[in-house]
Amino acid sequence: MTDTPLLKVRDISKFYGARIGCQNVSFDLWPGEVLAIVGESGSGKTTLLNCLATRLMPTSGAVEYRMRDGQMRDLSRMSEAERRFLMRTDWGFVHQNPADGLRMAVSAGANVGERLMAVGERHYGNIRETAGSWLGRVEISVDRIDDQPRDFSGGMRQRLQIARNLVTSPRLIFMDEPTGGLDVSVQARLLDLLRGLVQDLGLSAIIVTHDLAVARLLSHRMMVMKDGLVIEQGLTDRVLDDPREAYTQLLVSSILQV
Ligand SMILES: Nc1ncnc2c1ncn2[C@@H]1O[C@H](COP(=O)(O)OP(=O)(O)OP(=O)(O)O)[C@@H](O)[C@H]1O
Ligand SMILES: [Mg+2]
Repeated sequence: MTDTPLLKVRDISKFYGARIGCQNVSFDLWPGEVLAIVGESGSGKTTLLNCLATRLMPTSGAVEYRMRDGQMRDLSRMSEAERRFLMRTDWGFVHQNPADGLRMAVSAGANVGERLMAVGERHYGNIRETAGSWLGRVEISVDRIDDQPRDFSGGMRQRLQIARNLVTSPRLIFMDEPTGGLDVSVQARLLDLLRGLVQDLGLSAIIVTHDLAVARLLSHRMMVMKDGLVIEQGLTDRVLDDPREAYTQLLVSSILQV
């Protein structure tokens, strides 16, 4: 870890008209750190994540990101083109529903290769080889490289989405309920895979989940949201083993064996 955060979040609020999405959220994310955002349905997790990833414009507050050259940049002051470039290269975004993060009617290989082309790779053979090796890393047999994701199972699609996101060696990855729509056994396998990849690549990640077991397995630190506010945050083990807020205690005790 270096002594500068990768992401600095200051007082982010998002209102939908009069309704609160999230309110006054501040934190730093450090290189290599995995942060989980947990809370019940409607607590503002997705709103916050989308504000951080510039998919939504916050009503107030600022998010700064440390670029590869070391400069801290205010995301709201970047041009649309700069933001899009970040999204394609430095960042990944894993959607709960893989169909939202994949192109369903092009091949698996092209889904991965497309991101490589966005960072300037032009050599067809290299693209195909790298795509194939990433399919292997996410445990999709390379002989499926020319198949379309619409012919894949839900778990395979989610793994393909992860490969598509990681192929450009992003520094920061956002995930919204990455295991949400999957069977329990498929979830466990995917979590293992994600944990290994995040560790091997030294990725920073922000993961939205309502599942405390996912937070326990993947994150170093967690934030608990309720009604748009962060009501508790700290090291994941501390928050889960010794929750300070009554609401967090309730959340933890309502789940057996997290
Ligand atoms: N596009 C929108 N327009 C109006 N209100 C919205 C919109 N999106 C979210 N909200 C409201 O903002 C609040 C937070 O919603 P959000 O989707 O961020 O919650 P969440 O924690 O991600 O919930 P879930 O676990 O169900 O995905 C809710 O009251 C929701 O109704
Ligand atoms: Mg959500």
